[in-house]
Formats: sequence, structure tokens, C-alpha cells
Amino acid sequence: MHLLAASTQRNLGMAIAVVAIVGFAIYLIYNVLWAGRGERGSEVELAPNRKPYLSDEELETSKLDLALVSGLVTLVIIGVALPLYWLGEPGRQQGYLEFSRDQFTSRGAGQFEERCAICHGGGGLGGTTATSITDDAGNFIAAIEWDVPALTTVLYRFSEEEVRHILDYGRPPTPMQAWGAPGGGPLTTQQVDELIQYIQSIQLDPDEVEQEVLDGIVLQVRDDVLAANPGLNSRLNDANDAVSAAGADEAAAEAAARNLAMVEQEIRETSEQHIRELTSADRGELLFNNGEYGCARCHTPRDSWRFTGPESTPGGGPVVLAKGSPEEAAEIARLGNLIPAGIPGGGAFGPNLTNGATLRQFDTAEGHVGFVTIGSEEGIGYGNFGQGDGGGQMPAFGVCVGDRDSSERSAIHGFCTLEDGNVRPGMLTAAQIADIVAYERGL
Ligand code: HEC
Ligand code: HEC
Repeated sequence: MHLLAASTQRNLGMAIAVVAIVGFAIYLIYNVLWAGRGERGSEVELAPNRKPYLSDEELETSKLDLALVSGLVTLVIIGVALPLYWLGEPGRQQGYLEFSRDQFTSRGAGQFEERCAICHGGGGLGGTTATSITDDAGNFIAAIEWDVPALTTVLYRFSEEEVRHILDYGRPPTPMQAWGAPGGGPLTTQQVDELIQYIQSIQLDPDEVEQEVLDGIVLQVRDDVLAANPGLNSRLNDANDAVSAAGADEAAAEAAARNLAMVEQEIRETSEQHIRELTSADRGELLFNNGEYGCARCHTPRDSWRFTGPESTPGGGPVVLAKGSPEEAAEIARLGNLIPAGIPGGGAFGPNLTNGATLRQFDTAEGHVGFVTIGSEEGIGYGNFGQGDGGGQMPAFGVCVGDRDSSERSAIHGFCTLEDGNVRPGMLTAAQIADIVAYERGL
């Protein structure tokens, strides 16, 4: 929009400059050709009580010429310099926008490192935070670590206004607190703006996002693939042993590392092949459980929790129990019915999707896919009886919504529209969303 305005302004400035220059050229030619024209009019007698002024000879030569020339020079300056100055104006405006954007980004980066990185990791790459779970009366139940999502794709899923809502009000009862003044937090509107501008600057490119989503599901099947391919598994062990054995021998270390990379590449290709051969619903399950790129962290109870064991590490911190490990199972059994059962899709921040809930909400898989593609919006109904809630909290997975409702501000913040005019794709492909929906409709 402002690019268009800039070119109109530039054209106008150019037109005025051309008119001014051509005008002066005509004026000069006219005066050179018609120089020395005879004077018209008669001499006027001087009143007797007045002192004679300079004679015509003097007035009509150097004096007059000086006045005319200085008038002309001033006119030229005004007529030519102004449009020329104006020509540079769009560039200066653009430069100012970029300057203030850079300033917002770097101030936001400072804020982020100071207040958010402790949980979201340096550069917003994700992390964990130690917290505890309590019952409704606030009594301590257990210490846990809460997985904190990376923020490097958040603007693919949430519009800027939705991110602002999350920053303003937090996401109770998770450890994400209210930061903005509207929610009673310590940050001013401008500081929240700066944070959003910073978050925009750390968003991944579409091909990186695609890769991250794939990496996540490949990691989930890795152990199964290795178990199903004993040959590959023993080659992996051998390759790892060779890396340890190489020690300080540089040539051996390099060869061992190259070999390990080749084995890893083969594991990856075998995993991708395995994923392609799964049923749509099974692939959907992997995508559903895919960390910040999936659904479980909001729809499965305690998906973001990592239980900590009673014993301490040598450094004094608690031992985090691996997800799905026997130790974790024992801790969960010990806590008994004090914590919610981790039923997949059983409902957490997002609603319960089990027992055919999504079949009642969406009559067809297409309607269901449509909703997951565009997500919810504040106050807008969906499906048969759904209602988008405070700020629109169900993310959009199939279209980029970063500037869905940023209206006027898109000139500064626009995220989804790339400089070449193309629009960023969503975080998941249509095929991936269809897989997830096949899984969800069976819950
Ligand atoms: C005490 C730890 C903590 C701090 C500090 C923190 N956050 Fe969070 N944040 C979280 C957790 C945990 C979540 C995910 C909550 C959930 O499970 O739904 C989250 C979620 C978010 C989300 C939504 C991400 C998504 O994909 O759902 C955004 C955006 C966000 N935080 C931004 C920030 C910013 C900006 C700051 C600094 C002003 C900040 N957070 C500080 C813990 C924290
Ligand atoms: C950041 C949290 C979050 C994530 C991640 C998330 N959802 Fe949701 N989801 C919600 C919330 C909250 C709602 C309720 C609607 C609203 O208020 O926006 C919802 C609603 C839904 C509904 C409608 C349920 C009903 O009966 O009304 C479906 C279906 C759904 N989500 C599927 C998914 C799928 C599929 C994914 C992963 C690709 C996913 N969700 C990821 C928070 C989340």
C-alpha cells in the first residue's frame, strides 16, 4: 500500500520538476530572443520637494539586473530544489520506517533476553521451566518441568493481535503469565509492540518450518525404526563407538564422523519411508503429538509436563524423568488420581476431542479440516456449536495468519506477505492436516 503511495508521490514530484525546468528553459529562450525590446510608457516628472533618485541609466543597468538575477536565482531554487527534495521523500520515509523497525526489534530483543529467554530459551528456541502443580485449593502436589514452546513459528499460527492477547493476558493456568498492562502485567503497550516486532524477526523461513515439522515426526519413529532394523541399529552403535575410539586422532575422528553422518542419513531415510507407509490416521497421530507444531500440548492433559524424580543430580537440580520411561510411570502411579489422566486428546487448554466430540462438532471431515486450517477467531462461531474464545486461541495450521487482523499496522508489521508479493504458506500442508483429522475423528 505505501509502496504505491510512494510511487505516486515520486511521479508527482518528477512532473513538477519537469514543468519547472521546461518553464525556465522557455523563459530563458524567450528572453534571449527578445532581448533589447524597446521600453514602453512615458517618463514621470519628479515632485519638486523630492530628491532625484538614481538616474535611469544606473537603475536600468546594474541595479535592475542584480534584482532580476537574484529573483531568478531564488525562483530557480524554489522551483527546482523543492521538487528535487520531494523526490527523495519516499526514500526518507522508507528509511525512517526501517530505522524504527530496527530500533523496535533491537529493543524487543533486549526485553526478550531479560524477561522471556529464561523460559523460551535464548533467541526463542524453546526451553523448560521448573514449576509445581497444585490442587484446586492451592496445595502442592508435585514438582514438574513444563516444556516451553519455541516462538520461531508462532506468527505462522497466530495473528499479531492474538500474540498480543497472549502477551497481555498470559495463558493461565500455565506458567505463561500476563505481561501486558491490560492483564495487570509490567509491560507497556509499546514494550509489547517491541516484543512482537522481535518475535517477527526470529520467525523461520517456510522451508525451515517444513523441515522442523518433519524432524519432529522422524524423531518420534526413530526408536521403532531402529528396533525393526537390527542391522542398522548395530551399524549405528559401531559408528558411535568409532567416534569415541578416534579420540585425539584427527584423521580417524574425521572419518568416523563422516561414517556416523552417513548412518544417520540412512536412519532418516528409512524413517521417512516408514512414515510414508503408515495409515493416514497413524501419521496423524505423530503429527498430533509433534511438540509446538502439533496439538497434544493443548489438547492432551499434562502433555507439557515432565515429572521430576525425588533424587537430585550431582549439580543439585532435580532429575527429570524421561517421557514414557518406567520411572515416569512409577511417579505418575504414585501421584494417583491427584493429577489428570493423560488421555490423548482428553482436553487441557483446548477442549476434549475424544468420544466422538469432533464428529458432533463437524459433520464432515472437510469442515473439520477447514477449521484446523484457519483456526478460531475471537467471537466467531465454528462447526455446529463452537465459539472462538478470548483472542482466538485455537491456532491456524494451514494458512499463515501473522497479519490476519493487524489492519493499519501491516505496513510496519506485515509478516505473511513477502516482499515479492507472495504469501507464506501455513505451518502444515493440506495432506498433513487431512492425516491429523483422520486421527482425531477416531478418538
Ligand atoms: C515462567 C516461564 C515463562 C516466561 C518467563 C515467559 N513465558 Fe511465554 N510461555 C510459557 C509457557 C509454559 C507457554 C506455553 C503454555 C502452554 O502450555 O500452553 C508459553 C507460551 C507463550 C506464547 C504462545 C506460544 C504458542 O505457540 O502457544 C507466546 C507468544 C509467549 N509465551 C511469549 C512470551 C514472551 C514474549 C515472554 C516474555 C515477555 C514470555 N513468553 C515469558 C512460559 C513462559
Ligand atoms: C495453543 C493451544 C492449541 C493448540 C496447539 C491446538 N489447539 Fe485445537 N483448540 C484450542 C482451543 C483453545 C480450542 C477451543 C476453540 C477456541 O477457543 O479457540 C480448540 C479447538 C479445537 C477443535 C474444536 C473442538 C470442539 O469440539 O470445539 C479442534 C477439532 C481442534 N482444536 C483441533 C486441533 C488440532 C488438529 C491441533 C493440531 C494441529 C490443535 N487443535 C492444536 C487450542 C489449541
